[in-house]
Amino acid sequence: MAILKIARMGHPVLLGRAAEVADPTSPEMRRLVADMAETLADAGGIGLAAPQVYQPLRLFLWRDGAELHVLFNPELVPLGPETELGWEGCLSIPGLRGRVTRAARVAWRGFDQEGRAVSGEASGISARVLQHENDHLNGVFYLMRMEDLSLLGFTEELARLAEPQP
Ligand code: NI
Repeated sequence: MAILKIARMGHPVLLGRAAEVADPTSPEMRRLVADMAETLADAGGIGLAAPQVYQPLRLFLWRDGAELHVLFNPELVPLGPETELGWEGCLSIPGLRGRVTRAARVAWRGFDQEGRAVSGEASGISARVLQHENDHLNGVFYLMRMEDLSLLGFTEELARLAEPQP
């Protein structure tokens, strides 16, 4: 396994539409997932999409508590009209955080490392992470989703403020 370099905003790999993965069970994908898991743990993040490690493929990992999920060729659908405003950061935009409106609940489906179809529903932070990582597969950063850029700042500076309530 290896800790991979993380692409930062401005690199073209983060701006395109990532390609479907033909075979999630291939040795190359097995190694990529292992390396991404190690990279995510090292960075202390909760989600990592393949384009962020210079692989323009439809794959991301996210943590839900102690559980690490792997999702190939994901599809997300918002469940209902309810939205939530919440803080997000991104390993490709180090040092910054911003408040982003996201669907409060989503249904997701895709394929796991064994190539099995998997699906589920998510709310709260998991719904937010899923939407954030899925955006990376389509060249979208959370900054592009922000409606009020006054809610963007450096993490160190934001820590001085009492967290504003929605
Ligand atoms: Ni990100």
